[in-house]
Amino acid sequence: MNNQKFFKQLEAEVARIDAAHTTKRQETIIEGFELQPSPRALIDGKPFLVFNSNDYLGLRHHPQLIAAEHRATEQYGTGPGAVRFISGALKVHRDLEKALAKFHGREDAMIFSSAFATNLAVLFSLLKGQSKDSLVDNSAVVISDELNHRSIIDGIRVANLEKEQKAIFKHLDADHLREVLKEKLGKYKRALVVTDGVFSMLGEYQDLAKIRKVIDDFNNQYELGVLLVVDDAHGVGAFGATGRGTEEISNAKADVLIGTMGKAFGADGGYVVSSKIIIDYLRESAATYIYSNNIAPGTAAAALTAVKLLDTTEGKKVADTLKTNIIYFKEKMLNLGYRFAAKSEHPIQAVLIGDTAKTKNLKQAFYEQGVLVTNINYPVVPQGKDEIRVQLSAAHTKKDIDQFLQVAQQAGKKLQLI
Ligand SMILES: Cc1ncc(COP(=O)(O)O)c(C=O)c1O
Repeated sequence: MNNQKFFKQLEAEVARIDAAHTTKRQETIIEGFELQPSPRALIDGKPFLVFNSNDYLGLRHHPQLIAAEHRATEQYGTGPGAVRFISGALKVHRDLEKALAKFHGREDAMIFSSAFATNLAVLFSLLKGQSKDSLVDNSAVVISDELNHRSIIDGIRVANLEKEQKAIFKHLDADHLREVLKEKLGKYKRALVVTDGVFSMLGEYQDLAKIRKVIDDFNNQYELGVLLVVDDAHGVGAFGATGRGTEEISNAKADVLIGTMGKAFGADGGYVVSSKIIIDYLRESAATYIYSNNIAPGTAAAALTAVKLLDTTEGKKVADTLKTNIIYFKEKMLNLGYRFAAKSEHPIQAVLIGDTAKTKNLKQAFYEQGVLVTNINYPVVPQGKDEIRVQLSAAHTKKDIDQFLQVAQQAGKKLQLI
């Protein structure tokens, strides 16, 4: 019964995590949503305004997405049946890929069960050949922004590179990236630079024009060039005048762009868009695509509807509403005396509180008044940088934001934050 000893270790580890206040398993259970006059989550039968969701455009309750999901489920059934190389791709999967490629102005796209699964496979495949027969050169260095998302970090881990093949550039620092590319020059035949588009803790974005310029300067110096891989999970759909994300905001393009359909697009699943040759290669090498089911056909149909909707008059209106909500929220919060942890034009707005107990108390005050927000505390952020992360949505009405502001004012005064 030696595994009993192991279970004791697991118990001790869970207790350690609880004691460090970094526990994540005490999840709120949402029983459903009230949709009128605007969406509210039902918890213990009570309605809550949702200011902690990635549904930036409010599309997850959109009647067109729901109808498309129902139709596709009728047409194809509830699940994909098998992986694509076994029983074939469903047309709705391929239609979605074509729509995503067109949306981002690329030759082709490929969809995965999640953006996390996309990053794992894309990074592995682009960093490593798949077998001893592979013609892909493994002499590669990967250079990653120091605050990249966990799925990027794990994608690099999966590639199991030598220590020297992995480098980090300082957060949002294109000059430091230049230094690292210079330092690695001559040691590796090719380089891969990878970054989040929007960083989800603070809502800041990587200026891709600056990064692109550095990469272009080095592309001909490395024997097999330099690739820019951007994961814009929080940017696509939600950022830029037409929802093209960080590429649109910074007016530059990645070589390989990863996105999710589980945030602004209101559905689920991940994707990568790129040139035909990169996508052809990934279809032959990406393990989480080849050996793992794709999203359900209903989900693919909902995502396809969202992607198309973004380019309609209604889509433009939704994007404008989101922008108006962000501007209104920021202005009113500043007027109340709050500060933000970073400058952000994105729906993620990090309200700087700076004290762990006060941040938790403020989050609790919001909860008691029927508003959901996220508190982000040390050690996730540095000491003194504790924040309340607010996520705005086009689904919020002015009245919803005013309700948020009223709580922020009352609780903020009580906690001596403003
Ligand atoms: C930058 C980034 N990449 C990937 C993901 C994962 O997305 P998905 O839920 O589609 O796996 C997230 C989600 O938080 C993210 O912020």
